[in-house]
Amino acid sequence: MLFRQLFDPETSTYTYLLADEATREAVLIDTVLEQFDRDGTLLAELGLTLRYTLETHVHADHVTASARFRDTSGSRVVVAASAGVGNADVQIEDGGSLRFGTHELEARLTPGHTEGCVTFVCAREGMAFTGDALLIRGCGRTDFQQGDAGALFRSVRERIFALPADTLLFPGHDYKGRTVTTVEEERRFNPRLGLDRSESEFEKIMAALDLAYPKRIDVAVPANLKCGEGAAAGQPLPGPSVASVIAEMGRQDVDFAMGEGI
Ligand SMILES: [Fe+2]
Repeated sequence: MLFRQLFDPETSTYTYLLADEATREAVLIDTVLEQFDRDGTLLAELGLTLRYTLETHVHADHVTASARFRDTSGSRVVVAASAGVGNADVQIEDGGSLRFGTHELEARLTPGHTEGCVTFVCAREGMAFTGDALLIRGCGRTDFQQGDAGALFRSVRERIFALPADTLLFPGHDYKGRTVTTVEEERRFNPRLGLDRSESEFEKIMAALDLAYPKRIDVAVPANLKCGEGAAAGQPLPGPSVASVIAEMGRQDVDFAMGEGI
């Protein structure tokens, strides 16, 4: 399988390109509108046909490029039915799957960061794309968008940690330069959701975070509930960018200033 991990430095968002090397059919997971040209150029250079753009959830920190890819390449937008994105082409349910060439991605609903979060699992390759449900040594916040710490705990423990221990986990964001982890690593070393934590301990940790209000949420969420339709790239969203926070405050303060895992 052809695989690329792409990064948006403004929001510390990962976009993933997966493709069948024989049929040249491709999917993109969690696109960023400002990176539409970058990703479109890569698809063209590699001779790929984009079949689907997948959303792990309705993002609060950036606008998706899904609608733009649909308009320009005829790809279909895939979102969990529980996310409430009315104009998505595929409203995927738990256990639903998508094919591109000989490859398959299975949807596992993993609510808790938002109600409509989904983890996409490529079992044959031993890879899973967790969005913000599980970040490397962390997790997405649970205080907006119908977030629910108890639900997130159960999603991670019962749906993600239930995958084979050597499964590679690719998160929706990382603010510290890390790119990939494994089920076993997070079971052992995740300070919030590792196996030595109880659900009540996790709920206390999440309740005590006291994160800043995500300044881009009021623009990004309404746009993403329409697959980003009508949104204009290159118009900065309100609020500081990750890059500006790093420049002013240092990388260690990004989590707090941006509202970790949004
Ligand atoms: Fe998020």
